[in-house]
Amino acid sequence: MNLLVTGAAGFIGSRYVRMLLASDAPDAPRITVLDALTYAGSLRNLEPGHPRLEFVHGDIRDAELVDKLMADTDQVVHFAAESHVDRSIRAASDFVLTNVVGTQVLLDAAVRHSVGPFVHVSTDEVYGSITSGSATETHPLRPSSPYSASKASADLLALAHHRTHGLDVRVTRCSNNYGPHQFPEKIVPLFVTHLLDGRKVPLYGEGLNVRDWLHVDDHCAGVDLVRTAGRPGEVYNIGGGTELTNRELTGRLLEACGAGWDRVVHVEDRKGHDLRYSVDWSKARDELGYRPRRDFDTGLAETVAWYRDHRAWWEPLERRTDAERP
Ligand SMILES: NC(=O)c1ccc[n+]([C@@H]2O[C@H](COP(=O)([O-])OP(=O)(O)OC[C@H]3O[C@@H](n4cnc5c(N)ncnc54)[C@H](O)[C@@H]3O)[C@@H](O)[C@H]2O)c1
Repeated sequence: MNLLVTGAAGFIGSRYVRMLLASDAPDAPRITVLDALTYAGSLRNLEPGHPRLEFVHGDIRDAELVDKLMADTDQVVHFAAESHVDRSIRAASDFVLTNVVGTQVLLDAAVRHSVGPFVHVSTDEVYGSITSGSATETHPLRPSSPYSASKASADLLALAHHRTHGLDVRVTRCSNNYGPHQFPEKIVPLFVTHLLDGRKVPLYGEGLNVRDWLHVDDHCAGVDLVRTAGRPGEVYNIGGGTELTNRELTGRLLEACGAGWDRVVHVEDRKGHDLRYSVDWSKARDELGYRPRRDFDTGLAETVAWYRDHRAWWEPLERRTDAERP
């Protein structure tokens, strides 16, 4: 079986591919990774040279290339995206071009070549801020940022291709991930790398925004359950991590890095900042047997240790990110 995985030089996709390559089951897929190697992607996240892995450096918006790859593809897991909310607030057009137009190019080719399942990896941010309770998969989509609006658009296009063309599309909507190999612009790796360097960390507003933190391995396991056992045309929420305010998360990161609150600078809140995300993941639990397995404190301690031990991975990226800041 040939599996096309887009965006797998990034944080979550690379972890997913490593998980599949670690399996020696006779039906383990051959994997083709399609990735444009934007600032967020790096070949160092993958295992080049693995006999079941082929890497193609290219853009999901390149219809000719995508068509050629799809002709030799049985299934798709689509991670490729512009993924950082702050960048989408500064400039949204790349988010529309990759997340919406790029997804459309993949869907068109998948229809032409009768490929499926096509797992479209999305986010809990499409539901917008949830004051209380948790969003089920039928909750209205109320995205707040250009990032989440572009992801919601792609979700709707993907589901429309199931309804209109019968394409076996499955959508996952996951909460915030943490773990190794995450680009040091998102809160966990940004704070850890700054703290390890003796620098201050910027906390938005009062730090009262709540997020559900899930280890990347739990997300990857959920995505694979959806690929192998999910139903066509269905959406599956993936969550069940640990709900924390950003202030609580900061406290845990300071402790893990042996630093105090004097290292925190309160900065102006992000524009349109959603107060709370929360997904009801009982559908994935009841239908697929999904449940998160990684304990947050252990997972966070391992993540901090990974960054401590892998300076050579993140220091060049950190320098690049610093140079981009206005
Ligand atoms: N990080 C999270 O907490 C989280 C949570 C829920 C869902 N998601 C979703 O999971 C997916 C992966 O997220 P991530 O955090 O690993 O992102 P990431 O930014 O770390 O990686 C994105 C990857 O996509 C590639 N890419 C970007 N534009 C491309 C294009 N036009 N053509 C080909 N490749 C391109 C990049 O080079 C990079 O390797 C995204 O779709 C995101 O919306 C992320």
